[in-house]
Amino acid sequence: MTDADAAPDPTGAAPLSESATADATATPAGQAAPASAEGPPMISMRKVDKHFGDLHVLRDINLEVPRGQVVIVVGPSGSGKSTLCRTINRLEPIDSGDIAIDGVPLPAEGKALAALRAEVGMVFQSFNLFAHKSIVDNVMLAPLKVRKVDKATARTRAMELLERVGIANQADKYPAQLSGGQQQRVAIARALAMNPKVMLFDEPTSALDPEMVNEVLDVMVALAKEGMTMLVVTHEMGFARRAGNRVLFMADGQIVEDTAPDAFFTAPKSERARDFLGKILSH
Ligand SMILES: Nc1ncnc2c1ncn2[C@@H]1O[C@H](COP(=O)(O)OP(=O)(O)OP(=O)(O)O)[C@@H](O)[C@H]1O
Ligand SMILES: [Mg+2]
Repeated sequence: MTDADAAPDPTGAAPLSESATADATATPAGQAAPASAEGPPMISMRKVDKHFGDLHVLRDINLEVPRGQVVIVVGPSGSGKSTLCRTINRLEPIDSGDIAIDGVPLPAEGKALAALRAEVGMVFQSFNLFAHKSIVDNVMLAPLKVRKVDKATARTRAMELLERVGIANQADKYPAQLSGGQQQRVAIARALAMNPKVMLFDEPTSALDPEMVNEVLDVMVALAKEGMTMLVVTHEMGFARRAGNRVLFMADGQIVEDTAPDAFFTAPKSERARDFLGKILSH
């Protein structure tokens, strides 16, 4: 893309521009205040149930995540961790119960749902970047399409975010030219480009080579320190202890334990959690 492409759009007075010119590490405009702020929980789930056919995949989930809190979700394969994440931005519908983001109930469909989804950023194990678009274009895409931000503003903001995740110098490359750790950092920048209030991470480092795990976790730790509300499915215990305020242990679609990271990893209460930790620690 050339600078000529990025001519100011007369209609484009979009909210992203306010934070784009400010300190790159500052909380974006209109976003969650630090953990101490009053207000509704950032994520609220009440009596949530979900089935896949006969499988009762989420059972009476009750969860409140205050703004600024970092919640780690652990549990055996198939316990419902990914499904829990996916219901929070309604990639998966629920059978019954209520979910609200920052006090606003999840809309069923349409524009309201699209708007709410934009407030909940999600980062998956697989990065899902567009292979035929450059790194900076990947980060600009959603603000351009969904928020209708003008190109110059979107690019400035994208470059700031790439700077923040440590890969601004790769901006004009294509995803296949980056390492897995770099691609995952692009995926984080892409999610942040929508100025989400909440970030959901589903095993963001489990597809990475071991030497790339820390560069991604470091970005997540920084995000947590800036006050982002985060729900992170991960078995990275070092990260859980460093950045987590709370650990949820899931088994068979239920939250079996909800406790502080240190307490969970040193003295889990339930037999199932002890069994689970025994397995992951012996690997
Ligand atoms: N779209 C779907 N249709 C039918 N069953 C599904 C679907 N998605 C997930 N499941 C089932 O729901 C259960 C929970 O899946 P989920 O992916 O939430 O588990 P998880 O805790 O994330 O596991 P893992 O640690 O392996 O990622 C599993 O038994 C899975 O096979
Ligand atoms: Mg999963």
